[in-house]
Amino acid sequence: MDKMLIRGGVKLTGEVPVSGSKNATLPILMAALLTDEPVRIRNVPRLRDVATALALLNGLGVESRWTGEHEIELCAARVTSHEAPYEMVKTMRASFVVLGPLLARTGRARVSTPGGCAIGARPVNLHISGIRSLGARIQLRNGYVEAHAERLSGARIWLDTPSVGATENILMAAVTARGQTQLENAAREPEVQDLARFLASMGAKIYGAGSHVIEVEGVERLHGAEHAVIADRIEAGSLAVAAAITGGDVTIRNTPVGQLDAVLAKLREMGVAVTAGDGTLRVSGGAPALRPVELRTLPYPGFPTDLQAQMMALVTQAAGTSVITETIFENRFMHALELMRMGADIVMKGPTAIVHGGTRLQGAPVMATDLRASMSLILAGLAAENVTEISRVYHLDRGYEALDKKLASLGARIERVNE
Ligand code: UD1
Repeated sequence: MDKMLIRGGVKLTGEVPVSGSKNATLPILMAALLTDEPVRIRNVPRLRDVATALALLNGLGVESRWTGEHEIELCAARVTSHEAPYEMVKTMRASFVVLGPLLARTGRARVSTPGGCAIGARPVNLHISGIRSLGARIQLRNGYVEAHAERLSGARIWLDTPSVGATENILMAAVTARGQTQLENAAREPEVQDLARFLASMGAKIYGAGSHVIEVEGVERLHGAEHAVIADRIEAGSLAVAAAITGGDVTIRNTPVGQLDAVLAKLREMGVAVTAGDGTLRVSGGAPALRPVELRTLPYPGFPTDLQAQMMALVTQAAGTSVITETIFENRFMHALELMRMGADIVMKGPTAIVHGGTRLQGAPVMATDLRASMSLILAGLAAENVTEISRVYHLDRGYEALDKKLASLGARIERVNE
């Protein structure tokens, strides 16, 4: 298995591009099921999760081929299976959003439930109750959700919490349902908006994506379309933190600046110089003159939970006390324990982590449990003395395209080794 070795202490400088958004790509790939015509998706990041999504779709009979470095053509002319097996869904929870489009297209779906997750319980009850409201008969049998419906019917659905995955799943089920659907307390994330744009280009009638209420006017059928995936705001934010934690000067290109307001506000509050241009972000300064900060993760447009671990690494370098509260997932502080092994001073009290910053981090062998936790350890390694050795790199490969190469291009001493 691959490891990353980082020798910290280099100020990152230069320019780096952001790849297409992982979380936007995954549901968009699943949406290919909704039409028997070909679809072409551009700006697709080369990631393990994308490979997993394609394998899942191929298993259902969907044909896919890369037509460029970041471009895929998919064609679901014939859907030959109705099953998303446990092996797939357990390796990637986002597979569960196949339920809506598969059911809408074929009237049948058998999708494994995802089970536990390193960052919290992450149930799928809202996905199921929403799709049930659209008229599907759903049973839970042998760890699988089995759903049937001749044709779904529009309904009024209220989400208890604005779940991103449930919003996407229900949206994809509703676009070809009979009549109107009104989804209230919907997730507003840019990735939901990107999916809605793609569905609209396939002929769906969707109003209000990006607001709390999404309305769908069901159509008989969808057709083929082309779409370019939005840039990855979480990767952009992670690279911004990499610049700040090394006190470097980095220009991040292809950045969805308008989606990062909450993050840029916090970086500025910490004393980092952030200059936003048209699709670029220049981040300079930062460590060692960082100020402590308080932050709370929230649904979009609040501070994203997917950047919480990275910010925790950053505040270890801000002299004074920072307070981070995680409100989305109940167990998302696994990185804190590894950061503490590197010398960070962190006290955890329920959903809150109190970080006494300004300590010198020391390189250590560390291991991460999930994607964003791995990134926080990479960031800590960039700031630490000596060598940090990060194992379980496959977590990073799930969601960051060519991360080691991108950081190395900014001067980081980072090396991927195969042992
Ligand atoms: C997506 C993102 C993930 C991000 C998260 C929150 C993808 C592939 N993943 O995950 O990177 O961290 O949004 O921004 O896009 N919940 C329920 N019942 C449900 C569904 C969710 O209670 O049926 C709860 C979850 O336990 C969690 C909260 O809702 O506490 C938000 O989760 P959700 O928005 O669904 O996250 P995902 O879509 O899984």
